[in-house]
Amino acid sequence: MVKTAIFISGRGSNLLSLIKFSKKKNSLINICLIVSNKKNAAGLNYAKKFKIPILVTSFVNKNFSEMKILKKIDFLKIDLICLAGFMKILSHKFIKNFRKPILNIHPSLLPKYKGLNTHKRVIKNKEKFTGATVHMVSKKLDSGKIILQKKIHISKNDNEKTIKKKVLLIEHKLYPRAIQKFLTNL
Ligand code: GRF
Repeated sequence: MVKTAIFISGRGSNLLSLIKFSKKKNSLINICLIVSNKKNAAGLNYAKKFKIPILVTSFVNKNFSEMKILKKIDFLKIDLICLAGFMKILSHKFIKNFRKPILNIHPSLLPKYKGLNTHKRVIKNKEKFTGATVHMVSKKLDSGKIILQKKIHISKNDNEKTIKKKVLLIEHKLYPRAIQKFLTNL
């Protein structure tokens, strides 16, 4: 099993889908650590519920926080990091020093709509489709190799809120599938 750390900043619905995935028979991942930059992130309740160790570090001093995380993941021999709604941008130094894969889930059909407020921009531009993407984290924001993508249709009645809900639902299925694909293709 691949020792995995999940990084969050908020609600943690993707975290929950990954915990469920990790509990399945013959699962490829073992979630050994949850990292949050917010001490009140709701997702941390899942850590408690499933008895997964946590590391909370504020990123007020990014270098300090990243060093702290690197130390911990090195000690725990973590081999994979999955960002799941983690709202901080990891430094090039961190990516380089970790030396192992970092994955992220983004609520758009990358390379379209990198960055924040994706659904708002998608609706404003009257797109016919949107979706979610799981990709490798590289030095450039939301630009690493795409592992898996899922597309959904936007209907006339959709708005930012309905799209957000629909995309989140597909994210919960997509992230586990992407991890499975990534780890079996290594
Ligand atoms: C998701 O939409 C994810 O794609 C984005 O942030 C959101 C996190 O939601 N990066 P949650 O915390 O997993 O519920």
